[in-house]
Amino acid sequence: MDGFYEALERAIETARLAPSSHNCQPWRVDYSLLSQEVCVGFDSHRVLRGLDSLEREMFISAGVFTHFLTALLACQGYQLNWQWQGEQEGRRVLATSAITKLSKGADVDEYHALSQRIRERHTIRSAFKPEAVDIDSLETIVQHASCHFFSADHVGTNLGNLTKQYAALDFTNKSAWEETYNYIRFDEDEFAEDGFYLRNLFGPVSKPFRLLFRYGFHPTMMPINKRLGLAKKMAVGLGELVESGPYYLALSPKENSQEALFECGYELGVLWLHMQKQGIGLHPISVLVQHETARKALAQSLQCPPPAFFARLGHIDQSGVDAPRRSVESILNCV
Ligand SMILES: Cc1cc2nc3c(=O)[nH]c(=O)nc-3n(C[C@H](O)[C@H](O)[C@H](O)COP(=O)(O)O)c2cc1C
Repeated sequence: MDGFYEALERAIETARLAPSSHNCQPWRVDYSLLSQEVCVGFDSHRVLRGLDSLEREMFISAGVFTHFLTALLACQGYQLNWQWQGEQEGRRVLATSAITKLSKGADVDEYHALSQRIRERHTIRSAFKPEAVDIDSLETIVQHASCHFFSADHVGTNLGNLTKQYAALDFTNKSAWEETYNYIRFDEDEFAEDGFYLRNLFGPVSKPFRLLFRYGFHPTMMPINKRLGLAKKMAVGLGELVESGPYYLALSPKENSQEALFECGYELGVLWLHMQKQGIGLHPISVLVQHETARKALAQSLQCPPPAFFARLGHIDQSGVDAPRRSVESILNCV
């Protein structure tokens, strides 16, 4: 279709800023000139495998990316209607779509506003402002997933304690921590296309902290780290942040399927951008949904279905920092 490939490239240039677990950006996009079809799938080398539960986060991440892509193309006058294909052994395609030209055409102003919102969105890992958030109105945004919001006034202490109890699992589960550690970019000046610099995780850090983290948390140091209680200290710090809330989001798929998880991610994309427009940020706390004991305890605390995604949220005080991203060429394949 005339002009579609250029519009797709332009959309990916911005959609690639979508959030993903460990910033692994597990997606790929294939465009078939012959069938005029777009496919979103996994780039199998980029899919996280450190824990079985990370599979859920891969579908969620791909869903968020797909929402950003779809919305950016809609502003350029192209409608995508995704048909679920499902990931099967050896196949990387998740969903495919034919391309329809929208009769209203492109809306340049809307495109710029959306691009800007996507560019300004970051994961916020610092304290939020203690201002009220209208969580009742946020609950109406999500249609195809089970979405619950909570206030720290009611559950903050419980969630803080849960995090203090379980967050050390991030550092003590061998395969999960080895994988996470490989995504940390310790050289702040070196180009990276994925993962995170320490400044993304902790804000500006001193050289001694960088060295302590690099060597003290090296996977081979895990037994010593455990004896020194470093992981527990990190868990307590995160627990205090979680306790501060001031609000929380728990998202679960409507049913236990890959498609429902992808849809859940798509809805998270809608919600995250809606919140960004209102100056509200999100800080996912995935350690509470990655380990079954923690996930069950979380669901019990919140009296909701076991979440596939859990985050603290609030009005942004300190904006986040750009994290590395893959190039458009590494995401888009024209076949
Ligand atoms: C499904 C999912 C799970 C995530 N889990 C965590 C998490 O547990 N802790 C965290 O700090 N960030 C988490 N993130 C945020 C990513 O680390 C972040 O999106 C990525 O590093 C890119 O940074 P950005 O969002 O600022 O662009 C998660 C994101 C997604 C989509």
